[in-house]
Amino acid sequence: MSTVTNIESVLQEKRIFPPPPEFSAKAHIQSEAELERLRAEAHADPEAFWARMAEELHWFKKWDTVLKWDPPHAEWFGGGLINISYNCLDRHLSTWRRNKAALIWEGEPGETRTYTYQQLHTEVCKFANVLKHAGVMRGDRVALYMPLIPELAISMLACARIGATHSVVFGGFSSAALIDRINDASCKVVVTADGGWRRGKEVKLKAAVDEAVKETPSVTACIVVRRTGSQQEMQDGRDFWWHDLMETVETDCAAEELDSEHPLYILYTSGTTGKPKGILHTTAGYLLQAHLTTKWVFDLKDEDLYWCTADIGWVTGHSYVVYGPLSNGATVLMYEGAPNFPEPDRFWSMIEKHRVNIFYTAPTAIRAFIKWGDSWPLKHDLSSLRLLGTVGEPINPEAWMWYHRTIGKERCPIVDTWWQTETGAIMITPIPGATPTKPGSGTKPFPGIEPDIMTREGKSVGPNEGGYLVLKRPWPSMLRTIWGDDERYKQQYWSQIDGIYFAGDGARRDPDGYFWIMGRIDDVINVSGHRLGTAEIESALVSHATVAEAAVVARPDELKGSGIVAFVTLEGSHSPSEALNQELRAHVVKEIGALARPDEIRFTDALPKTRSGKIMRRLLREIATSGTVAGDVTTLEDFSVLEKLRAEEE
Ligand code: WTA
Repeated sequence: MSTVTNIESVLQEKRIFPPPPEFSAKAHIQSEAELERLRAEAHADPEAFWARMAEELHWFKKWDTVLKWDPPHAEWFGGGLINISYNCLDRHLSTWRRNKAALIWEGEPGETRTYTYQQLHTEVCKFANVLKHAGVMRGDRVALYMPLIPELAISMLACARIGATHSVVFGGFSSAALIDRINDASCKVVVTADGGWRRGKEVKLKAAVDEAVKETPSVTACIVVRRTGSQQEMQDGRDFWWHDLMETVETDCAAEELDSEHPLYILYTSGTTGKPKGILHTTAGYLLQAHLTTKWVFDLKDEDLYWCTADIGWVTGHSYVVYGPLSNGATVLMYEGAPNFPEPDRFWSMIEKHRVNIFYTAPTAIRAFIKWGDSWPLKHDLSSLRLLGTVGEPINPEAWMWYHRTIGKERCPIVDTWWQTETGAIMITPIPGATPTKPGSGTKPFPGIEPDIMTREGKSVGPNEGGYLVLKRPWPSMLRTIWGDDERYKQQYWSQIDGIYFAGDGARRDPDGYFWIMGRIDDVINVSGHRLGTAEIESALVSHATVAEAAVVARPDELKGSGIVAFVTLEGSHSPSEALNQELRAHVVKEIGALARPDEIRFTDALPKTRSGKIMRRLLREIATSGTVAGDVTTLEDFSVLEKLRAEEE
């Protein structure tokens, strides 16, 4: 396992930070003893624990059975009737929260909009009616390809309200990527915007949709939010302006009473083959875990202003910008644009301006802040902050310490939360009033969650031994399947170690039982906290007429976590050139999106392969990282390849 080499540096981490007593005194969970009692309760009878917690939600009808586990298929809260949109909106309307701010949004150019729970409810009801008029029925799929604007959250909640399944496609993906995702789920309607703002430039979304819908026969309508005001071609009978349609509908729309297992959303994520996986999440269990983790992990209180900087195009935005916080009745800050626009202190100036209390971001952002220099955060009053969080990739202890000192002023606990698109909600995490933290460790499992570290053979490993991170028990917000490909679901997650969920991460546990995640052990690269499959990038490269074969590997990158290096062999008649290099990088952007652009392309005559023809990525990784190969090469078919690759290095 290539990640094993990470262990040594991490092992030197001896610092430990107990929760500040003044924080614990006011927290939902106030001590380690209290947390251990909850863990013990959940361990002894997980179903009873989750059922007790599910009382916090609104049910049209309570469940008959908490869990039906027919491995690897779970049914949570079977027989129950529930609606997420009702839980996030309606139930607050009969309380004092009716006029509380639900969303405070800031656009990149600086304008703000605020929605109270009542106002958000009205917008969601109206858009639900718009969808119904567009022919969207319970169970239909709707693609959302939008900037980070309130209408995205409104669209999600409107889908959930009428039982339509949403599929949010990150606005940074290209039209080619959008086509695959729309077709995979046969989406009926696409909701988009003319564009969005990113670092002062317009990201053109409607133009990409226009390209895409030429090849997506299932799409009957496209609804467009006017955001940037740029000129659009609206195709008669297919394209409609959001604001026009919103004027024509009723302001009320009852939330449908849906089965607990009703499909809530599909979210595509990269795996080890070229085809992205449509991760399917359902309703009640997902809501329960998103709700409870938001409350306990972020110690969320009614008076907090909570800001998760994730784009809603990723799972973090689904669970911790929209569903978790709104079901708790929180006030959520939402920001459209880049962290360094117009200057590298945009986040800090927003924290100061809005008096943000809870701030949840990614290690890649933290590393960028460090690089931009301390003067930016030091210019601002960050005293409103009381809790910091991180997610998306391992945080190196030095970045953790910087976050702790420079942003948290040694006063704010940091929650380093491990989870995945597939897990739906946080799984391994500190509870801020209870857990002593160690920089770089996600600490321990959330109550009811049972991770372990195992060998390939399914044997638990001892303290400080590296192995595969697994989950031994079903959990409420687990993925239910891969959309349209249950075989792949079984294969990918449940058959590496029979009957046990295989996360795809390497990890170890220290003698205190703290988990240390070492990163992906499969062919998935985590670039700036975004998951990309090497196979996807390879198939994008090979789709270019000049490319014969491509192998993509990650190399450590100080800022992005991982950089992308592509080894490419060309078709006979073509030869390497700087122009072709640029063209291939642009081709990947066109096929997938800018986030997948290779940092480097290396042309080579041949790729190192085993006798059975498998590309030896491990060797390529070593070459990309250190320029040489120290590891075992006995299975290599043709040794001269290595010599050539080394020679090309110089
Ligand atoms: C990585 C994002 C270390 C991990 C929520 C996982 C982390 C993948 C952490 C999932 C963390 C996420 N520490 N690694 N706190 N959080 N990861 O699906 O490799 O975009 O498997 O979900 O990110 O990425 P995904």
